[in-house]
Amino acid sequence: MTIQTLTGLAQSGALKGKRVFIRSDLNVPLEQGHVAEDTRIRASVPAIRLALDAGAAVMVTSHLGRPKEGTVGPDDTLRPVAERLAELLGRPVRLVADWVGGVDVAPGEVVLLENCRCNPGEKKNDPELARRMAALCDVYVNDAFGTAHRAEATTEGIARHAPVACAGPLLEAELDALGRALRSPRRPMAAIVGGSKVSTKLSILQSLADKVDQLIVGGGIANTFMLAAGLPIGKSLAEPDQVDQARAVMDAMKARGVEVPIPVDVVVATAFAADAPATVKDAADVGPDDLILDIGPRTAAALADQLRKAGTIVWNGPVGVFEFEAFAGGTRVIAQAIAESDGFSIAGGGDTLAAIAKFGIADRVGYISTGGGAFLEFLEGKTLPAVAALQARGASEK
Ligand code: 3PG
Repeated sequence: MTIQTLTGLAQSGALKGKRVFIRSDLNVPLEQGHVAEDTRIRASVPAIRLALDAGAAVMVTSHLGRPKEGTVGPDDTLRPVAERLAELLGRPVRLVADWVGGVDVAPGEVVLLENCRCNPGEKKNDPELARRMAALCDVYVNDAFGTAHRAEATTEGIARHAPVACAGPLLEAELDALGRALRSPRRPMAAIVGGSKVSTKLSILQSLADKVDQLIVGGGIANTFMLAAGLPIGKSLAEPDQVDQARAVMDAMKARGVEVPIPVDVVVATAFAADAPATVKDAADVGPDDLILDIGPRTAAALADQLRKAGTIVWNGPVGVFEFEAFAGGTRVIAQAIAESDGFSIAGGGDTLAAIAKFGIADRVGYISTGGGAFLEFLEGKTLPAVAALQARGASEK
């Protein structure tokens, strides 16, 4: 389905002197009032530049965290984001509070509208709020792939009411790269799903089990799979109540002729700490007091071998506690194998991006998504409400 794009509008000269409202995803980690990691801000800059260069008056907004509606608490403000954005754009970025009733912005200027999730009605996609926000602009741009799975007033409702609604270049690029990789993946297709809990990733595991040729699990998820395989896991993080679900995923892969690889060796410690002494053990020898904090070198080498031969790789989640050097080995080997593979790789999720940055492989990953939950829902084949709203506009305006 056709979606109008900001790039197309800019090229046709339609933005000159127009009021452009950009919904970005500037939900970034902060540390002591400063931006700790700015990938999403950098990824949002091209849309803003495009609108500015085309002569528009530019309003940008985003959510930050999950604040209580009705107030802007000290941890909710986008001020640190405005400062970083101003540095990246090389021009001032005025932060505007209480903006739903009206915004003063001139062509060639960019303002950042304070945390949109602080506006009452944002989260439940209140139609009246959406209408009031739509009245602020001539053109609404959704460039927030990371929030495209949320039907909120700035992501979905506003797209119904704005005079023109289009996709920004980041949203366009995400849909294009991820869509291409999933529609006609080069085989074999491998997926790595790491993270702490099976329960939060169950639907992605189930849906990938139908699509991929190799399904690699890591982290706490792998511990639950080890339990399902009858292996000891000591005091490791796991969800015994998800063992049946893990078994069902293993059976689904087996029905397609492949096994979900279960670690043959692991790195354990008796405390969850950066300086806890690390010991490599065979998976069958994990003791009652052990915590599994990484896959072992034999397991990592075997998985790396599979990944190097893959035609397409989807990566979400580390395979160990890579933040601690002693337990980073497995994720490092996986990251290197992805970097060395000739296959097309796509990666997404906060921890995955942190691992990519730590191991310095960003320029050797095919596409790095800015989405976490949105990335997973897209992979599952779910309709993203923010994208559906733009598609509906595209269809009705044909
Ligand atoms: C994210 O960080 O995944 C997005 O910004 C969406 O945030 P949310 O889960 O709070 O909606």
